Amino acid sequence: MSPRWVAVAQVQEVHAQSGLVVEAEGEFIAIYRVDDSFYAVEDRCSHDGGSLEGGHTIGDQVVCPRHGARFCLRTGAATKAPAYAPITVYPIKREQDQLWVDLNR
Ligand code: FES
Repeated sequence: MSPRWVAVAQVQEVHAQSGLVVEAEGEFIAIYRVDDSFYAVEDRCSHDGGSLEGGHTIGDQVVCPRHGARFCLRTGAATKAPAYAPITVYPIKREQDQLWVDLNR
């Protein structure tokens, strides 16, 4: 399947500690910044379906703000209970100050 890149945010909109949730063609996507790298994951915790909005990062992991599960931003793997199932990771790219996500991941 060929990529379907969609413009989702400007770099300066993604706060280092809490990320940004955007809607792109009906999909809710949480974007995080770790140092100079950006990551995009589905905005739905695999524990209880909660939004990851406002979740802070620890290294390359995001912490669900509801019950504290953690997910690797690189792979989507659940790394701390109470979540055990992975979440979807989207390819993300930066062109100058524009961030793009591939919805055909
Ligand atoms: S909804 Fe995320 S840890 Fe419970």
